[in-house]
Amino acid sequence: MNQAFTRQPQVAIVTTIADVASSIDFFVRYHLSLGFKRLFIFLDVPCTQTQALLADYPQVTLILRDELLSQRWSDVASGEYRRLLPLSSLEVMARQELNMLLALGMARSEGLDWLLHIDSDELFYPHDLTLGAHFLDLERRGIGNVSYLNYEAQVEREGVEHPFQEVSLFKRNFFRNNIWVFNATQRELLQQHSWLPPQFFNFYQNGKSAVRLDKTVQTNGVHFFKSAKDVHFCLNRGPVILHFTCASVADVQQKYLRLGNFPDTWNGLPRTGKLISDFHIQARDAALLGGDLALARLFRERLLPPPGTDLAPLLDAGLFIRLPDIAARAKPREQFVQQTLPADTVIPRVMIALRQHMISTGCNEAEASNLLASCRDSLQLMLPVCARLYPGEQSIHLLTRCYQALLDAKRQRDPALDWLPDANWAASHSRVGGCLYIDRFAGNFQGLQRRVEYLSRVGINFLYLMPMFKRPPGANDGGFAISDYRETAPELGSIDEFRALLTHLRQHGIAVAVDFVLNHTADDHPWALRAAAGEAEFQEYYHFFDDEGTVREYLSKVIDTFPDQGHDITYNNDLGRWLWTTFNRFQWDLNYENPAVLAAMLDNLLFLSNLGIDAFRFDAIPHIWKRKGTPCKNQPECHLIVELFSHFLRQLAPHSHVISEAIVAPEQVKQFVHRDRASLAYRPLLSACLWQALSTADTRVMSHQLARWSALPAECNWLSYVNCHDDLHWTFSDPSLRELFPEQSLADFYQPLLAFYRNKGDVSFARGLPFQQYRISGSTASLAGLEKALEQHDVEGVERSVRRIVLLHAIVLAIGGLPMLYMGDELASLNDYSYRQDPELATDSRWVHRPYKDWALDEQRLSTVGSPASRVFHILRRLIAIRQQQPIFAGHQLRVLCTEHVPLFVALRETAQQRLLLIGNFTPDSARLSQQQLRLSGIGGQWQDLLLGCPCHLDQDLQLEPYGFRWLLSQSTAESSLTKRGSVHIPTHGDRSITFMPIT
Ligand code: GLC
Repeated sequence: MNQAFTRQPQVAIVTTIADVASSIDFFVRYHLSLGFKRLFIFLDVPCTQTQALLADYPQVTLILRDELLSQRWSDVASGEYRRLLPLSSLEVMARQELNMLLALGMARSEGLDWLLHIDSDELFYPHDLTLGAHFLDLERRGIGNVSYLNYEAQVEREGVEHPFQEVSLFKRNFFRNNIWVFNATQRELLQQHSWLPPQFFNFYQNGKSAVRLDKTVQTNGVHFFKSAKDVHFCLNRGPVILHFTCASVADVQQKYLRLGNFPDTWNGLPRTGKLISDFHIQARDAALLGGDLALARLFRERLLPPPGTDLAPLLDAGLFIRLPDIAARAKPREQFVQQTLPADTVIPRVMIALRQHMISTGCNEAEASNLLASCRDSLQLMLPVCARLYPGEQSIHLLTRCYQALLDAKRQRDPALDWLPDANWAASHSRVGGCLYIDRFAGNFQGLQRRVEYLSRVGINFLYLMPMFKRPPGANDGGFAISDYRETAPELGSIDEFRALLTHLRQHGIAVAVDFVLNHTADDHPWALRAAAGEAEFQEYYHFFDDEGTVREYLSKVIDTFPDQGHDITYNNDLGRWLWTTFNRFQWDLNYENPAVLAAMLDNLLFLSNLGIDAFRFDAIPHIWKRKGTPCKNQPECHLIVELFSHFLRQLAPHSHVISEAIVAPEQVKQFVHRDRASLAYRPLLSACLWQALSTADTRVMSHQLARWSALPAECNWLSYVNCHDDLHWTFSDPSLRELFPEQSLADFYQPLLAFYRNKGDVSFARGLPFQQYRISGSTASLAGLEKALEQHDVEGVERSVRRIVLLHAIVLAIGGLPMLYMGDELASLNDYSYRQDPELATDSRWVHRPYKDWALDEQRLSTVGSPASRVFHILRRLIAIRQQQPIFAGHQLRVLCTEHVPLFVALRETAQQRLLLIGNFTPDSARLSQQQLRLSGIGGQWQDLLLGCPCHLDQDLQLEPYGFRWLLSQSTAESSLTKRGSVHIPTHGDRSITFMPIT
């Protein structure tokens, strides 16, 4: 299928601004009028006025300079760009470049084609060209990196208030290949006008640049981009950048008094050249030494023509150019801004509607006033979020509906549900998670209730239950196709039985998470049935398409999610229409552009919360917003929607958590995690790293990636796991991989991994199955070699597999985040191929690691001394028990050490009271960690080995057994908690002892 479309290039702007409220509105309107599609504006200095002005433009993405931004900088700055990080607190240039780097990624993920970097005191001026014609022309000529000349404004009088609109005279730029190319007349004129030094005719040697958004583009300072192709200089006839150094005395004063004593360096280097720099430096010194007056003098002497100067000859000679149409090019603000209603109109309107609602639903005045008071602050916060998603009146209706749902839910809530003392429960060292399918684990709700003892025996006190809601008969993606969010699947039990189960779990101190499947419903959900029956209102709940052209346009940049099942948009024969079905044909994607969908889903979420669920796994969130011409993943609106849901959920149940299930690269995962968005996040990178390290016996990728991608905001935490109910997805950060292996292609990295776990031709110990194109299914034990070793009666192979399994769990339990055990892993359960006999399941290999639990058989395996099941079980229990005793395991902070060490993963976790050293050997051979290496990381002295319960001296080399690991603790009270440990006997296999973990 030919998917090439001729369309106008979509061009974005990135700019870093300070408190420029007076001019920013014009800057935005002017560029939008030219046809720029989006502006990424980084507000470097807080300014509420600027924020307010920009908030109404849906085309503007405003990013504030805060802790989150610093984190995003550090995520995006790899390789040589890391040098910008320490400079970022000192120099605006460093911040600008980091912002440019960030904007490259943001613009790319929005499907934009070009990015122009300019400053807020600059304008892009295309002369007579249209924006589209210019960029199309560049594309046709194969130019992807273009630098524009800078035309400096010539201010003609004092007292200019609106520089972009009042100044029309500009000096043309004559700088070519480092020399000025004035003709004889021009040169003569310049000699006559000593107030015009030649350097004023380039001011900046070059203006700013635009770049085509290829994957490989990077920045090269703030004036250039770096791409595969050379920079093309756009000369005389092309667009130019218009620049105002300072348009008025007030401008010079505002700018240089604010900048204060900035350094003589620029990007860490001395400011070279005598061009712009010397004016900057003079202005800085004037501000410091002489203040306002000195700056006013400087402005008059250096930037204004002497009084009485006749500019006509300068214009005639082509030294100057007059551009009188700048102001006229900018269309009025009303043409672009969303018709958002001001907060002081919206909030009272919503409040009145809510009061009426409450009174009409039987609430008395006092109760109504109480509840309403609790909404006011929340409304202030939600209004801008809502307005960015849905303009004008729509947002008022939506807010009213959302708050009605919230207030109703608050009135119905049973206080017993708020049993967790605070939101910190998820970060506690004592919290250990498990995940299971109710039917496969215990038959139904009642069955699970009877098995709670078992969970407690393992140490599980956080349980993620796979979907239990009503689902279509037959194929239903393990319940991820939901037919009704408020009814449970009859085969599992009634909703009351489910409630009873939740109460029982709560009584046993077990917090519960369930899925909030918000991306799609089953095709037999009432909304879907009504849509299929032709009800227009419900057709708006989904994404229907009538023509293939539009479908192809939407799919042009989409990477299919389940490619084996076809494209993300599929043709529905019964309806004769196209439908967005990201996962399976029977899972219809919801259309969040319709605010009614958001309101209805929020209603469902609050209903579920009131059942007594403590955390919600937001299923498949990168997919919830689609935008033509983009990958339709990780769009900015996804974050707004998650923020909205999370906010309302926490208004109802303050200690609840939202878990992001974003199985994407860490750069994107991190964007979902924020105090106001998801507070817990699936950590697919960790499991990808573990399995990669195991397959290569090389921990460098793991160390490198986890060193870069483990930090999260303090209030948030990871959900760390070895394996889960889904496939193994290789969600590495590709830029970080390239940084580590600059010479190697990514295909060379990924191919061996796939080959290893798919084990074609028996090349490895693993027994994995292909899932979709690049992914792997399989149980932890089978992937770690146990299945093959048992089959081949390979005693040593069994030993190695057990060690591998334990090693992976030991890392996950200690590395930070809330660990989650996929139930069955604790008994080293193998792949179960019986799914192949079930036609509903046979095409989805993930079922290979979703077996029915055979309690009798498992009991037998467990009681067989030395069996892999029994060994893994007892060791894991022991590890969990140790974790639950030591506060150092709480939270997620992590420092990866010795990142170049091939066999070993070494990491340190620190609090004011304790330090934990985590070491894992990912090779089948013994490995040594030299004392010297440790000393380089500041580690030495005496530690406590938490497993062995004895001291460990790190002033000498440390020897690790094949696939061995260490949890070492340094703190004064370590001894006391260790002495409390029960003596757990770890049975061994035959006469082989588990030398790597001699705990008795
Ligand atoms: C999530 C689930 C997965 C399911 C998909 C669609 O990724 O974990 O099992 O297939 O969403 O709901």
